[in-house]
Order: sequence, then C-alpha cells, then structure tokens
Amino acid sequence: MRIDVLTLFPEMFSGPMSTSLLGKAIDNEILDIQYTNPRDYAQDKHFSVDDAPYGGGPGMVMKCEPLFAAVDSLREVNSLKRVVLMSPRGRPLTQTIVKEWSESDDLVLICGRYEGFDERISQALVTDEVSIGDYVLSGGELPAMVIIDALSRMLPGVIGDFDSVSSDSFYDGILGAPQFTRPPDFKGMTVPDVLMSGNHALIERYRRKEALRVTRERRPDLLEHCSAEDAELLNEIDNEEHESDS
Ligand code: ADE
Repeated sequence: MRIDVLTLFPEMFSGPMSTSLLGKAIDNEILDIQYTNPRDYAQDKHFSVDDAPYGGGPGMVMKCEPLFAAVDSLREVNSLKRVVLMSPRGRPLTQTIVKEWSESDDLVLICGRYEGFDERISQALVTDEVSIGDYVLSGGELPAMVIIDALSRMLPGVIGDFDSVSSDSFYDGILGAPQFTRPPDFKGMTVPDVLMSGNHALIERYRRKEALRVTRERRPDLLEHCSAEDAELLNEIDNEEHESDS
C-alpha cells in the first residue's frame, strides 16, 4: 500500500515510521510512505502556506493553492481516490474506517498546522475528514501517524500472527478480553483456571464473555447491535451478578 503524506514537517515521521512493526512493514515493502511538503508548491515569493482569515480573528489559515498543487503533483503516482484531511472537525476515526482504508491500494493524508484550513480545501480537494479525538493538537502529523500505525496492523504480512490482530480491542467491534501471562500466581493474584485448562472451546467462550463484560462496563455504546450469541452471554453475566448479589 502506498501512503502519500502532505506535511510541512516530514522530519516528525522519521522515528515512528522506522521503528518496530512499521519499520519492518516499510523495509518489507508492504507499506510505501512518501512525503510531499506543501511549501514546495507555494506560489508566492515568500513560499507562504498560510494567511490571515477573512473577517478577522486570531491565527492563520492554510491556503488553497499550495495544497491543491501538492495533491495534483501526486496524480501520476496515487489514484487520489481517498484524500484525507486530519481535522478536529472530522468524523471520529474508528477501527471500521481503518479496516476499510487498509483495503485500498493508496491513500493521501493531509496534515495541517495553524488555526485551520480554507474551507474550499474541505469542499473540493478532500474526500474524507477525520479526527482522532475530541481535543485539539498542534497539527495533523500525530493523527496521520496514528492512522498509519492502525492501518499497518491490518495489512497482510505486517503482524506475523493474524490471530493477535483479531483479538485486538475493536477488531470485532468490542473491547478485548483480559490477558494473562506467567506466573500463575503473582502476589496472591491468580490467573483464571479456565485459561490454563487447555480446553480451547471453553477458553474461547470465556474470552468472549469477559470481553463482553469489560465492554459493557466501559463502553456500553459498542454493544448496541450485538449478536444473539453475545446477548445470551450478557444474560448469563447478568444472572451470575444477580446471584452473587443475593
Ligand atoms: N488536528 C488537530 N487536532 C486534531 C484531531 N484531534 N484530530 C485530527 N486532526 C487534528
């Protein structure tokens, strides 16, 4: 998969993109990340990429011309089917979006700085606007890295053991089950017997049930459309909780 990142600060990406799984995905040519600096496409003698907002007010706004020209320069190497703007005004990023994008051949991620973008960039240049949470960062570089990291986990060959991806929180829409490793007893806190039983069917059922339990405690919004099997397990949890109350 090819990802073109438009950023005024490509150097911010060097550490995260060369470390651990992402570094390997790039070395193994599963992921090809290229950087384009909108400043190289600025059209005035000062190479400006931002300007004061019409109507007044604080801060600067990213200009149309450098971003439109920078995206246009990618026409030969990127399908430009998905041009994504990082913005706190975007729709919230979810695992469903990440999975869908990981199935594309390419992607453009636009990182902004300053107070925002000229609205015509949203209207006519980008296909999607995403936010990584309800807080404001100083620029879109960290959100772009978050997207690249989450996407790379979905690409075949990046994570050796795909079962480990499918047990991630959110992979199948709910939070992940609690995990344990050795020792079986740490300061009196023990590992549930079922996990050491070797009975895979029982272990799978236990994990699904515990994943549902933790999801209902922390993120009940994720359980709105659960399956009949999950509803049955949730019922079982309710009954156990009622029994332990009485
Ligand atoms: N740019 C600044 N804040 C952001 C956020 N929360 N998500 C995406 N892009 C941003």
